[in-house]
Amino acid sequence: MSEIKFYKHEQIPMEMHKVKIVQQLTLLPAHERLAKMRDAYFNTFQLHNGDIFLDMLTDSGVNAMSDKMQAAMLEADDAYAGSETFYRMRDKLEEIFGIKYLLPAHQGRACENILATRFVKEDNCVIMNYHFTTAKAHITRLGGRVEELVKDEGLVSKSDLPFKGDMDLDKLKKCIKEEGKDNIPFIRIESGTNLIGGQPVSYENMKEVCKIAKKNNILTVLDASLLQDNLYFIKTREEKMKDKSIREITRMIADLFDIIYFSARKFGFARGGGILVRDEELFHSMEDLVPMFEGFLTYGGMSVKEMEAMRVGFDESMDMNVISQGPQFIKYCVDELDKYGVPVITPGGGLGAHLDASVICSHIPQEEYPAGALVCALYLCGGIRGMERGTLSEERNADGSERFASMELVRLAFPRRVFTLSQTEYVIDRVKWLYDHRDMIGGLKFVHEPKTLRFFTGRLEPTSNWPEKLVEAYEKEFGKDQ
Ligand code: F0G
Repeated sequence: MSEIKFYKHEQIPMEMHKVKIVQQLTLLPAHERLAKMRDAYFNTFQLHNGDIFLDMLTDSGVNAMSDKMQAAMLEADDAYAGSETFYRMRDKLEEIFGIKYLLPAHQGRACENILATRFVKEDNCVIMNYHFTTAKAHITRLGGRVEELVKDEGLVSKSDLPFKGDMDLDKLKKCIKEEGKDNIPFIRIESGTNLIGGQPVSYENMKEVCKIAKKNNILTVLDASLLQDNLYFIKTREEKMKDKSIREITRMIADLFDIIYFSARKFGFARGGGILVRDEELFHSMEDLVPMFEGFLTYGGMSVKEMEAMRVGFDESMDMNVISQGPQFIKYCVDELDKYGVPVITPGGGLGAHLDASVICSHIPQEEYPAGALVCALYLCGGIRGMERGTLSEERNADGSERFASMELVRLAFPRRVFTLSQTEYVIDRVKWLYDHRDMIGGLKFVHEPKTLRFFTGRLEPTSNWPEKLVEAYEKEFGKDQ
């Protein structure tokens, strides 16, 4: 079953779990949030979690665990080498993906480090449907380049296209021809394409991309970090796949790729990562990098407790009642905002709801980070923490000029099984208020700008006293205790 149907009530998403353990939340008053925002130098990554009401920064490592996942943690087998927990995890992944060789790593970017270190050389070109920040940083660190070949429609914010993460096959053929296949170490498909709004890739597209890659003898890599959402969308949006089970779809996808890696902070609802390698020789060629960067080959920097939990989490990711939750709550949020006229990425994808800051804050020039400003404004006006996914998350060009992002988004992530519908309604309500007061939002500028991944630790300040004025208006509307 993919959705509970209602009789008289309008159709709403339904939690398919019940609450067993809770964490109390506090909502600081707006003027205190302003002080916290200043302390955090207008960078939401620098806020303390206790000062946040609803943390929608990410789903990474903050999805709720099930009782069964927690129970499995008690069975963890502690050993530096040869932990039984590792073999149980490896067997579960083999059962699901049909791939025998597993390199464990402490999280997704560690897998990306290993893959880039093993395959990328100076001036190489890695082809992707779209980049992810850390995946790209590891490639460029080694002197490589990234070509993003997502279809043009994937970057159009308002759309009803079901698979906006699909790669453009003509662009792919052209790129291989121009680059030469020997200069392309691998083609990376990111399921549930993160930076363009959690948009899925169709099975059909993955199949065609892999066919072209195989013909040219180029390795194929699937980033399965957001696979659970992508599986839901393939089952519900791809006509030819609707009668297949989630397990069948997963196996059909896996069969296409040479290498599959994942962040288990997302896929598996725990904290860790891993690289599945089909070919034994290829697997051995990467093996030495695990003890060098991560830890011994049977834990790879992960806690064995987390490994047991994710083993159960992998099974739960094959359950439609589990994986439908994210997309259904996101759809509800996106549709309600869309109805009100708030520019959002449509159709709703996985991972989170995405506000289009380039339209909402069209009065803020791109070099003053409209998405960065909007995400700060939302914390001030509601205690909601989102994530900037725009120019601030890019790195500057070699000549020091800004590389303007093709999309300026604010992501409101929906960690799985964490927030209820009333919390979702609160988010919708506060975004509507902010949208109606959008002209009050101003720009940001750097006061300290790190060279790499500047969005994590960069310090910014507002270009005027707009945050004070915005908080004043907010308090006038809701009172001083909100
Ligand atoms: N690939 C994708 C598609 C991701 O979304 C992430 C992380 C990674 C790789 C890296 O994995 O964090 O375990 O090192 N995304 C997080 C996010 C950080 O908030 O979207 P990691």
